[in-house]
Parts: sequence; C-alpha cells; structure tokens
Amino acid sequence: MEFIIDTIDLEEIKDAIEHMPIVGVTSNPSIVKNTHPQKFYDHMREIRNIIGQDRSLHIQVTAKKAEDMVKEAHKIHEEIDDAVYIKVPVSYEGLKAIKMLKKEGCPITATAIYDEMQAMMALAAGADYLAPYVNRIGNLGNDPYQLIANVSTRIDHDQYPTKIVAASFKGVQQIRDALDAGAQAVTAPVAILKQIFKNPSIDKAVDDFNADWYSMYGEGNSLL
Ligand code: E4P
Repeated sequence: MEFIIDTIDLEEIKDAIEHMPIVGVTSNPSIVKNTHPQKFYDHMREIRNIIGQDRSLHIQVTAKKAEDMVKEAHKIHEEIDDAVYIKVPVSYEGLKAIKMLKKEGCPITATAIYDEMQAMMALAAGADYLAPYVNRIGNLGNDPYQLIANVSTRIDHDQYPTKIVAASFKGVQQIRDALDAGAQAVTAPVAILKQIFKNPSIDKAVDDFNADWYSMYGEGNSLL
C-alpha cells in the first residue's frame, strides 16, 4: 500500500514526509497553478531534493498531441531526472503517447481516468500507475470503487506489475473506500490525510493516559 501526496507546496511536503509514511508526490497543472512557482523546473528540482530518489515524483504533461507529450516528457526528464513518472491523461492521443514512451522505458502514470475501459487500455499499454479520479467519477453518478475493484482483479489475474493510484479525493472516507476496493496506492491532498488524526477520541485517549501517568508520578516526571 502506498500513500502519495497531491501537492507541490514545499513546506507541506516537508511536514508530510516527516510525519506520515509518504512514498511520493503527484501534481497536475491545476495544482501547479495554485502554488504558481516562478520557475517550474527549479521548483520541481527542489521537491526532488526534499523527497529524495526513494520517493516517486509524478509530473503531468500539458500537450494534447502524442508527439508533443513525448517531447514534454523528454524535457521533464532532462530538467529533473529519468525516474520522474510522466503523468499522461488517457485520451486517445494520450494512449498513443503512453505506448511511445513505454517503448523508451519511461515510467508512466496514466491519469484522468473516468472509465473502466480507459483504465484497461492504459493497463494493456503498460502504464506503471493508473489514476482513477474517485470524486469526479462519483460526481458523474458512477461508482469509482467498482471500477477500482474490477481493474484490481484484472491486474492480479493477469499479473501486471501496474498499480492503481486512486486520486481526486475530497474526504477520508473516499480514501478508505478506494483502498478497500483494491487500490494499491492513493494520492491525496495533505489536508485530507491530516484529517485522519483530527479525532477527539485520539486526543482524549492521549490526555487521559497523560493524566493517569502524572497523577501517579507527579507533574513533570515523564519517562525520561
Ligand atoms: C492526481 O494527481 C489528480 O490529478 C488529482 O488527484 C485530481 O484531483 P481533483 O479532482 O481534486 O482535481
């Protein structure tokens, strides 16, 4: 199971990787717009420095034509490194770009997945990650968890090395349901992941344990 964060905010990334078992960072052009770094590649190199080579970095192309997506992928790899996962929306052109880039051995995250057959096509084309958009699929009145379950079954049955990285979350319950449905990874905003720990029961348990300890040994007398 992999927890990935969907942000390019440097402070947020530093804080998240210190506290949580985060194994990667994803973004898309809209996320980039929210942070609007002056120099995109400098910013992404800084993220690479923060997260190191052991965590994955996923950067999305913006072109619409396959050949241009491939050129953008090459530029991303030149500017950062070859380990960056190139996020390619699974349009008809995107699928062509995925096939072209996989021939070169490029790591691919197939994104903007709304439909099971889109996921199956990207899977067959060799994508390393498949990113179904959970909240957006739900907003269209469709069931993102059935999609995840079916694609996950296919991955297991045919023994693909591909992972589902469920994306587009607006709440913790969606993340839990995506993992329960079989997603091997999730990418979510840091604020939503931190929400998991905003639980009065956790705070009360910690306060009660502290109160019991210090009532026995006296205020200030910790385990140290
Ligand atoms: C992954 O990186 C996706 O682009 C992202 O999770 C989409 O999220 P949104 O539906 O909140 O825009």
